Amino acid sequence: MVDTDLVKVHFILDDLLVQAPQGTPLQEIADHAGADITFGCRSGSCGTCRVRVTSGLEDCSPAEAEERDFLASLEAPADHRLACQVCANGDLEIEYLGL
Ligand code: FES
Repeated sequence: MVDTDLVKVHFILDDLLVQAPQGTPLQEIADHAGADITFGCRSGSCGTCRVRVTSGLEDCSPAEAEERDFLASLEAPADHRLACQVCANGDLEIEYLGL
């Protein structure tokens, strides 16, 4: 059995605190936890999954160009991410915003 580091993700509005293996996609964690985040395209182009990362922004996987461009088009602050594009590389606190 391989030891996998676990990370903690807190979905603030749902008051859900869950653990997942480091590097797990945030949408997988949210789906599994039953967090109230609406996913549409799941490919970084609709924005329904927009969240604010209130803690652990540095532990999110880096944004690809498409996500950066989309968020820039919304003039979103630096702590906004598209949940369908993030992997949790450390402990995160997530606040769902939507579009
Ligand atoms: S579900 Fe569409 S951008 Fe994330």
